[in-house]
Order: sequence, then structure tokens, then C-alpha cells
Amino acid sequence: MKEMRYLKLNSFAAVLVWSTLLGGFLYYDVTLARQHMNELARKEARANFDKDQAFRLWATRHGGVYVPIDDKTPPNPALSKIPERDIQTPSGKKLTLMNPAYMLRQLMDEFGELYGIKGKITSFKLMNPNNEPDAWEAEAMHQFEQGRKEVFEVTDIGGEPYLRLMGVMLVQQGCLKCHGFQGYKVGEVRGGVGVSVPMRPYLQELDTAIRQKLIIFAAIWLIGMVGIVSWSLLARRRLREKIVIDAQLQRQHEAIQRANEELTHFANISAHHLMEPARRLLSYAQRLRGGVDSQLLDDDARLSLQYIEQGAARMRDLIRDIERYLAAGIPRGQLQPTDPVAALTEVRRRLSKLIADRNAHIEIRPLLPVYLDLPRLTDLFEVLLANALVHAKSDAETRIEISAQDQKSAVRIRIEDNGPGIAEEYRERVFGVFEQLKPNPSAGTGIGLAIARRIVESRNGKIWIETSTQGGIAVVFDLPTGADIL
Ligand code: HEC
Repeated sequence: MKEMRYLKLNSFAAVLVWSTLLGGFLYYDVTLARQHMNELARKEARANFDKDQAFRLWATRHGGVYVPIDDKTPPNPALSKIPERDIQTPSGKKLTLMNPAYMLRQLMDEFGELYGIKGKITSFKLMNPNNEPDAWEAEAMHQFEQGRKEVFEVTDIGGEPYLRLMGVMLVQQGCLKCHGFQGYKVGEVRGGVGVSVPMRPYLQELDTAIRQKLIIFAAIWLIGMVGIVSWSLLARRRLREKIVIDAQLQRQHEAIQRANEELTHFANISAHHLMEPARRLLSYAQRLRGGVDSQLLDDDARLSLQYIEQGAARMRDLIRDIERYLAAGIPRGQLQPTDPVAALTEVRRRLSKLIADRNAHIEIRPLLPVYLDLPRLTDLFEVLLANALVHAKSDAETRIEISAQDQKSAVRIRIEDNGPGIAEEYRERVFGVFEQLKPNPSAGTGIGLAIARRIVESRNGKIWIETSTQGGIAVVFDLPTGADIL
């Protein structure tokens, strides 16, 4: 079933769109959270780095600071070349000079133990072997020598993730007091100072946040899925019902069509079989009247013979019109734009006796080709002209005017007469079969307009009656010009 497959495809597409949409949002949200976490870690690293830098500058500005000697702060052997490394206060308290690196290292060691943030000062030319760079620091210092001022990276230290920040240390005038002997000049890279911020707490926080987001997004996704699935089930049930109903309708339609065809066939055959006796009846009645010496017949017999003849003629006309009515819906020739003038010439020939009897004047204005087969176009004009002629006023000259008008997608034909006219309320009724306003055997069979309507409507056209400018009626019909109309 094509519709069912289409529905399945639609449901699948809805699931896909909904899932990708939510997946996309989740991905975006997690990316934002991760960026935010990195930003926080960077800020923490930067703050610690700046503070270390401030301490170092402060100590360098003072050329080092004197502190009391204790277990943790012995005199620095690397400063043994400096005069007055160890001094004594007048009261005998012993003080030693702490250089900036020494001071900072002590600070960093204690800080690291307390908060997990590690500071480090390092160089390729070491005065204190404890300051030896690790692989990452060495790589960073190589980059400093190439002109970089700072390196920022997340790497592992002892298997744990750390955000590491290291800045370059350039030799300044103040440094030379103690480092001058190593051969440094002002502006050279002396080494690097850095901090490492442990990332584990940040990552754990991010993990929790992601888990929460996952739960929320999964819930939203589920709600959407329930919606999509129930919609799909509902639509499927509706579609199944529709398919059943459609099949029923189709069967009914076929049954009606079959019945209609059978009935039409029956009517056709009946008309055909009735035509033969009607013709024979008429011709023998005529023969009888012509052959027998009218002197031999009394009045009664002559009148009877006349009635038989009239009845037979009427029966023949009726059967002919019934046959025409039955055939009115089907083309009897090539469906194509047809010139009405050809059809009208034939109609004039067929109705020549009637036209002469009524002394009718038929005026044909310039016409347009109409989309209909010639035999039915001829029938159409014939029934309409015959209608106008038989209903014409007997006391005046009969005038009939035929004109055409272009209606964009149809051609409109008007047949106007100066007859007695039809009251507004009967103008629709006269298109019914056997709908005569006044039963009148000499005024046609009563099927003519029904035939005309059937021909016009079989081509999706319209036919109706208006008041004529000549005093009678105007029968107007529109025939669509498109070949696409059945
Ligand atoms: C008061 C003397 C003194 C001054 C001033 C001084 N330093 Fe040092 N610096 C030292 C000593 C002593 C060490 C030995 C390491 C320790 O004590 O940890 C050291 C170590 C270092 C280290 C670690 C590498 C190593 O050799 O162990 C760097 C880098 C450093 N100093 C850079 C500087 C810079 C840059 C300046 C100027 C801004 C400076 N120092 C000023 C005395 C000084």
C-alpha cells in the first residue's frame, strides 16, 4: 500500500529529525559546559600565576629578603658567594638572605601541599638541581627560546590531568646580582615559571553536569517519541479505515456503473426493436391512406387512419430522441475543435421543412470553433433550433440569431429567438426529460433540451436559459476549449 509506506517513512523521518535535533542540542550544551569549565580552570591558573609573579617581583625589587633561620629555611648554599648572606640582629637573632626563587619555591611547596596547585620555577642552567624541568617544561622553554611568551595546556602529571601554564622569565638588571656569574645578559631567557591546576575536580563536576543533562534530554526525547509513536499509530488506524472505506466505495461505484451500463444497453436495444414496428406502422398507414379511394372511407374511418398515422409518427420521433438521449454522453466522432458552421448547414438541411413552414429567418453571426465531435454538435444545434422553431409565435415572423463569444477557457454560444418566452420559474425544469410546459404533440417530444444538456455536460460545459433581447428566450451554452476534459 503506497500510503502506508508513505506514513511509515514519515514516522521514521519524524523520529530521525527529533533525535538529531535533541542530540544536536545536547552536544551543543555539553560543548558549552566544557568550554565554561576550561575557562574557569584557566582563570584559576592565571590568578595563581599572577600572584606568584607579584611575589617574585616584590622579592627581586628588594634584592631578596632576610628571614629567621629555622629547620625549613636553612641558609641557601647557592648564595654562598654573596657577601652578608647571613647576618645577626643586635640582639643576636640569626637571619639569612632568601633569593626570590628560593622564597617562591618555599611558598609553592607549602601552597601545593595545601591546595593541590603546584608552582614551579625552572631553567636549563640550574643553580639548584631541585628545579630541574620535566619533559613538558623543557618543551615549553624551547618554545620560549623561539620567542613565545606563554604556554597553556592540559597534560598529565603522574597520571592525573592538570592544566599547566608556564610563562617566560627574562633576565633583568636586578637578576644579575646573583645570576650574573652564570654569564647571563639582560633580555636573555633565564627560564620559566609556571603553575599546574589539578583538573580532576573540574572534570568530576563536568561529569555530574553531563549526567544531569543526559537525564533531562532523555526525558524530553522520550516525551517526543511517545508523541510521535501515538500520532503514527493513530494515523495508521485512520489510514486503514480509509482504505477499507475506499475499497467499499470503489466496489459500489463499479456496481453502479455496471448497473447503469446494463440499463443503458437494455434501453438501447428496446428502442432499436421498437423503431422497426413504429416505422412499419407509419408507412402502412400512409400507404393505406394513399392507396384507398378516399370516397370509399366514411369520415370516421378517415379520422381513425389519420390518428394512427399521427401516433406512429410521434412514436418514431420519440424513439429517435430516446436513442439520441442515450447516446448523448459519448463522442460519435473525433473530439476536436469543430467549426459550428458545418454543423449548422447540416441542421438547416434536416429542418428545411420546418424552417419553410414557419417562414423563419435564421441569422448566423461570426462563430468560433468549439471542442466537440461533429455528429453531436449537429444534434445539439438541431434540438435547440427545432425547439425554437416549434415553439415560435404563429402570428409573427420567426427570427433566430446564433452568436459566439470567447470566454477565456470556453466558447459561449447563444441561440436567441423572438418566441413567446419561458417564465423564470420554468427555465430550469424544461431541461428534464418529458418536461413540456403544455402537453402538445406537435411541439416536439419533450426530450430535446434534456439531450442538449446531456451533450454539453458530458464535456463539463453548462447550458441555461436567459431572456432574449428579441423578446423570446436565449439558450446559452459554454463548451470548455481544453482537450484535457474528458
Ligand atoms: C638574591 C639573589 C638572586 C636574585 C636577585 C635573583 N635570583 Fe634567581 N636564583 C637565585 C638562587 C640562589 C637560585 C637557586 C635556586 C633556589 O634557591 O631554588 C635562583 C634560581 C633561579 C631560577 C631557577 C633555576 C635554577 O637555576 O635553579 C630561575 C629561573 C631564576 N633564579 C631566575 C631569576 C630571575 C629572572 C631573576 C631576576 C628577575 C632572579 N632569578 C633574581 C638567586 C637570585
